[in-house]
Amino acid sequence: MIYYFSGQGNSRAAAKALGKALGMEICRITRRDVDNAPSAPPPTEDEATLWVFPVHAWGVPRVVEEFIGRLAADTPDAGAWSVHHMVATCGDDIGRTDRLWAAMIRARGWRVGGVFSLTMPNTYVCLPGFDTDSAEIGAAKLDNAAADISAIASRIADNRADGMRQVTPGSMPWAKSYILRPLFNAFLMSPRGFRVDRGKCNSCGVCASVCPMENITVDGRYPQWGGDCTMCLACYHRCPHGAVAYRSFTRDKGRVHTSSDALVER
Ligand SMILES: Cc1cc2nc3c(=O)[nH]c(=O)nc-3n(C[C@H](O)[C@H](O)[C@H](O)COP(=O)(O)O)c2cc1C
Ligand code: SF4
Ligand code: SF4
Repeated sequence: MIYYFSGQGNSRAAAKALGKALGMEICRITRRDVDNAPSAPPPTEDEATLWVFPVHAWGVPRVVEEFIGRLAADTPDAGAWSVHHMVATCGDDIGRTDRLWAAMIRARGWRVGGVFSLTMPNTYVCLPGFDTDSAEIGAAKLDNAAADISAIASRIADNRADGMRQVTPGSMPWAKSYILRPLFNAFLMSPRGFRVDRGKCNSCGVCASVCPMENITVDGRYPQWGGDCTMCLACYHRCPHGAVAYRSFTRDKGRVHTSSDALVER
């Protein structure tokens, strides 16, 4: 089973390409899967389990951590010592995300196999100086990611992935994941910054339908954000009219959407 979480689409494209290469089922993680019993089958000893998700602030998105806990709690006996691999997508570097994820897996009595990162088009735009990639850089990242996925898939298929660590930690990875990440989470991961440009919004409801946390309502004329946000930025990137902003930080910033077949087709 491949469990994946995705904001605007990079990790979904990666999960789909891995699923195709390995002949494995893919399962999206949403708020609903955490609150209700997960709809997907639990990990087993017969098949490797893959976790595909975007790196958020040099760590694992909150909803993925919650889902790991829920899956383990609901199926305490299933899959003990099953092998789990991580494929984290990022815009630049992952810090020590692999260590944070591995600790979550080991805490459930599951076995850590290989850890991999894929550099894909950047989605983080909520601070000055952070923007989406140019079309050329984005396309080059997707080309490289497609090649990396083939290599990862063949290692997993041949049982050669265990113990592998093929990640881009970047500079000062420890400080990023263990000092900057908590600060980032405390001060910069709040949905209170979202605004809608009423001149552009036509109440189409796309932002609400793409939100994996069911955190947006468009009951009246315009969207409203609740408090249960994992900051995936799907609402910002997927609004067809560019009507979603984050404080004033997204003025003149780009938006990106990676189709689910983006890596299969390369
Ligand atoms: C809130 C947030 C935090 C992010 N933090 C990082 C980061 O620490 N390092 C990095 O390289 N990319 C970071 N990114 C970029 C994403 O990890 C990257 O673009 C990822 O492939 C997006 O996948 P998705 O489209 O499946 O959501 C961040 C994106 C968001 C929205
Ligand atoms: S997706 Fe954009 S245009 Fe549609 S309701 Fe949401 S903010 Fe308005
Ligand atoms: S409100 Fe927007 S950023 Fe927050 S989880 Fe939903 S789609 Fe993602």
